[in-house]
Amino acid sequence: MNAIHKNAQVLSTLKTSNPSARRSPIRPVLAALLSMTTCLGLAHAAPKCDREADALLSKMTLDEKIGQMTQVDMDALKDKADITKYFIGSMLSGGNSEPADISPKGWLRACKEYESYALQTRLKIPLIYGIDAVHGHNNVDGAVIFPHNIGLGATRNPRLVRRAAHITALEVAGTGIQWAFAPCVAVAQNERWGRTYESFSESPALVSRLGAAAVRGFQQPLPEGNFVLACAKHFLGDGGTKDGIDQGNTVCDEATLRKLYLPPYAAAVRAGVGSIMVSYSSWNGQKMSANKYLLTGVLKDELGFRGFLVSDWAAIDQLSSDYKTDIEKSINAGMDMVMIPNGPGQKNNYVEFIHLLKELVREGKVPQSRIDDAVHRILRTKFRMGLFQHPYADPQLNAEVGSAAHRKVARECVRQSLVLLKNENHALPLSKTIQRLVVIGRAADDLGVQCGGWTISWQGKSGKVTSGGTTILAAVRKAVSPETKVTFSPDGSNIEGADGALVVIGEQPYAEMKGDRNDLRVSAEDAALVQKAKAAGLRVVTVLLSGRPLVLGPVLESSDALVAAWLPGTEGEGVADVLFGDCRPRGKLPRTWPRNNDQLSLTCNSPNASQALFPYGYGLSW
Ligand code: GLC
Repeated sequence: MNAIHKNAQVLSTLKTSNPSARRSPIRPVLAALLSMTTCLGLAHAAPKCDREADALLSKMTLDEKIGQMTQVDMDALKDKADITKYFIGSMLSGGNSEPADISPKGWLRACKEYESYALQTRLKIPLIYGIDAVHGHNNVDGAVIFPHNIGLGATRNPRLVRRAAHITALEVAGTGIQWAFAPCVAVAQNERWGRTYESFSESPALVSRLGAAAVRGFQQPLPEGNFVLACAKHFLGDGGTKDGIDQGNTVCDEATLRKLYLPPYAAAVRAGVGSIMVSYSSWNGQKMSANKYLLTGVLKDELGFRGFLVSDWAAIDQLSSDYKTDIEKSINAGMDMVMIPNGPGQKNNYVEFIHLLKELVREGKVPQSRIDDAVHRILRTKFRMGLFQHPYADPQLNAEVGSAAHRKVARECVRQSLVLLKNENHALPLSKTIQRLVVIGRAADDLGVQCGGWTISWQGKSGKVTSGGTTILAAVRKAVSPETKVTFSPDGSNIEGADGALVVIGEQPYAEMKGDRNDLRVSAEDAALVQKAKAAGLRVVTVLLSGRPLVLGPVLESSDALVAAWLPGTEGEGVADVLFGDCRPRGKLPRTWPRNNDQLSLTCNSPNASQALFPYGYGLSW
């Protein structure tokens, strides 16, 4: 480990601010030592950054301070000069907002221009630009798309998860963006939830381990002074809502809330996470965005979180029918930055936010001390990132977006994410010299289905959604011998006489509430494909592409072998590597697999967990 990484390693542990860690005598000494050295790399020691943030804060006007608390979506900004005029401290590209040119160079050009407007302000405080890089830099054409978190959960491999996050950070930084709204550390308890695939697991312990690894991977120092801030989300209890309803209500006592949903945040804080996004959801009927006890009492005071809290997309607008009240409640609860997707001419826009928050301060309804605390947190984080020294990206990183080296790591993630649920009659591994292999199902040749939601667009879509990448069909064709005849049959026709059938089925892409479903049975169309292969007397290997366990019904019985591939992303060769035995399947279920729709909220903690089709942690090999 070179000096930078060692220093970062120490820094990331020193970043910890939870009370128990602060009691150890060695940490203050180390902190003092580090703050005296000119920090290597890109993450600067806390004490020095505190002083710098204090000094800058003392020079700022109220307008400049509130500007730092304002995050504006790219599509809401009609006039870039507003960045300078209103001292805007942050921008984002939500799921569907993007520049005209979504190539790596196009993103770099756009983000560089936004930054230039921020640096024209009196105090030249750099803009921090955020994006949902939740499984690779997924808004950028040609970027590497990693398996979604449910697949990474199946790897049980924190080191690999850290590498995936580090590569994502390299690609994010390469486009001039400094903030990834990741990792999602939801502990999804009900597969009805459309965001189940964004959760590593139903187990708080596994989510804690992998979430902390992802934070360290994102926030590992990058070449040439670049740095990407991680964002653990969505605090708190987003994965525990009643009936898995997105943005719903988590109903439980505080002991259960702390046991199931808080550990990943304690782990992320210990890992030095610089930002945390607040959930849309509620706890026992109270919206998280206005929950002072949890945002300030638990997260900031008890866990010692010293980064900053950002709201979700227009989430504070849900607090009441009056925007000024929404702002008062959320800021006083501990929200430090507000994500605003609305621009001039729209309701609850960023100009209104700034004006109303100023009014609240003048009226004494939001204390000046709350504003100063929020802005200090934001500035301190920007100093710790080294953003003042390096507001622009290193062009070399731009050239490496989607590189073969990056894809190689993503392929390894795919290999380790696959879970073998059934393997009879020696169906797997397939022989590379099989005479005639028929590949059945449209999903076998569909990069969009392979990647799932949050890919180029918010909801994702079927088809060739991004440049680069390899479908499972293309990967199979590359894997087999020249003598092998591979036939593609999207609908399962003309398959007689083959020596084996590979059937690829799966969910169509979705994100957030669009994926909330009560019926998780495999579609009749997909079940029919497997049945056709079985009826033709073929040995049937079924690969399931899904964001969650599905109710398999007859599919399990009709398949000789069944592999859960989750949403593997662009590197389909990782699937072929396992199917043809170049590596053994090693994935373990990160979630309990339901037998029927009545078991969608069954987890490893349920008293009747043994009634599931496959238990948490299940996975075969050979
Ligand atoms: C979305 C999601 C959140 C995302 C944000 C910005 O609604 O809830 O995960 O980071 O808005 O796109």
